[in-house]
Amino acid sequence: MVKFYNIFSKKTLAKGLIFATILLPLQQVFADEVHVDPKQVQIKAGEYLFYASGCGECHTADKGQSLAGGKAFQTKNQGTVYASNITPDPETGIGRYTDDEFVSALRDGVGAKGRSLNPIMPYSAYRLMNRDQILAIKAYLDQQPAVNYKVPESNATFIEKGNNNSSDSLIEDDQKSAKWNRGKFLVEGPGHCASCHSSVDGSKGKTVNYAGSTVNRWVAYNISSDGDTGIGSWSDKDLQQYLSKGYVEGHGAAVGPMAKVINSGLSHLSQEDIRAMVIYLRSLPAQEKGESAASISVQELQNTEPSHSHGSQLFAALCASCHLDNGAGRQGEYESLWGSKTATLTQGTNLIKVILEGSMLEDSRLGTFSMPGFKDGYSDQDIADIANYVIAHFGNRNGHVTVEQVKKERVLLNIKK
Ligand code: HEC
Ligand code: HEC
Ligand code: HEC
Repeated sequence: MVKFYNIFSKKTLAKGLIFATILLPLQQVFADEVHVDPKQVQIKAGEYLFYASGCGECHTADKGQSLAGGKAFQTKNQGTVYASNITPDPETGIGRYTDDEFVSALRDGVGAKGRSLNPIMPYSAYRLMNRDQILAIKAYLDQQPAVNYKVPESNATFIEKGNNNSSDSLIEDDQKSAKWNRGKFLVEGPGHCASCHSSVDGSKGKTVNYAGSTVNRWVAYNISSDGDTGIGSWSDKDLQQYLSKGYVEGHGAAVGPMAKVINSGLSHLSQEDIRAMVIYLRSLPAQEKGESAASISVQELQNTEPSHSHGSQLFAALCASCHLDNGAGRQGEYESLWGSKTATLTQGTNLIKVILEGSMLEDSRLGTFSMPGFKDGYSDQDIADIANYVIAHFGNRNGHVTVEQVKKERVLLNIKK
């Protein structure tokens, strides 16, 4: 057998390598066809769609292993559903799924062995992706580390059958621009924004209105283009920054489920795609529903009379070190509170939750921004007082947060853990 080093001396080999590296980029520029591995292309496309779809948002539990499932969801009829393990583990994950089974789980809500999946899994949105797109996601998932973890059995009484009305993929509207169509695909399809932001069920063929809804006891705000109660008054630039980074001065930062949507999804998308989503969101008809955010500027907040309430003292002691009294944020705009719905809506639903639980945003460039939770060491009265002070101070309104509300939240929070 003739060995490689018998033909080429080390010296010629080295020369050859140098020559090859110089030549290679030129070759790529001039070549008609660059060799690309179709499998790699498919995996890359799948990775992007995986992020656009926010699969990790539900399939990775807090402190759980990546994509191994186990995150609990409370359903309307009181039972609990657990997100499945979608790592390639053959026993506990989706390693044995065939292509057809995977496509039918994602598009029709029918899992392996014909099991109907709970519609918390947003298959009615995912059906806007075609078979090739779904299989690209599978190709990407197949590359992820397998985790042997059996998720708890769900105990939800669930009667609804999977969605079998084969209305297919997305039909392009040629009256509208390519960007609008791309935005529509991303928002209605993989982004599944309506599954949280609309109380009207898109899977039943009814119009989806984006006027806001409640998910896992968080309020998902009105994102229709109404100027007061929706996002009609936001500039395109602000909306684009909020969707890709999770915060913007004058509207605050995303917490709870929306922070997860940004961390495990939207922050990985290209600016072109985020822009396309903004263009589509802008075209949603205005729906007046819910309360508006109070937009009081930092200057105005600076000039407010100091308060001496119990809530204001707690805010000064626990919160102002990061948020400052005027809500400008000490470290950066991701800590700014002014103009935010979460800080100014009078029911304080999301506000109580973020004070108890804390929240976190991941920025690929700047690192992690996190707020600690204050559920330990403070009474229900303390939390209610802080919340009502925040609403009064940043919203110039009377907050309606009650001790009972905080108590209920705390109980539910402890069950979840
Ligand atoms: C909003 C939360 C949510 C998102 C986002 C989500 N899933 Fe799910 N998924 C679930 C839940 C909950 C279940 C379990 C449903 C059940 O057991 O009835 C599930 C079940 C599944 C199953 C069925 C597995 C089995 O047990 O047989 C697959 C496959 C799956 N999801 C894949 C995905 C992929 C891929 C994505 C992204 C494209 C995704 N999911 C996004 C919540 C979600
Ligand atoms: C898992 C549920 C969920 C999904 C999916 C989701 N959102 Fe949200 N969204 C929320 C919640 C909850 C809030 C409120 C967050 C807060 O209190 O900071 C929110 C807030 C927002 C806001 C800020 C509104 C305001 O007035 O402050 C915008 C804009 C938004 N979402 C857009 C989107 C878009 C676009 C999508 C789809 C790509 C999407 N959301 C998907 C739950 C969700
Ligand atoms: C260590 C710094 C830190 C402390 C202390 C802190 N926060 Fe935060 N807070 C943050 C960061 C960072 C965010 C953004 C996190 C995210 O979006 O996930 C945030 C988000 C928020 C939000 C939601 C964003 C918005 O614009 O409405 C509210 C409301 C809030 N904090 C209120 C409080 C209150 C009230 C306290 C005191 C009980 C407090 N924070 C203490 C850092 C802090």
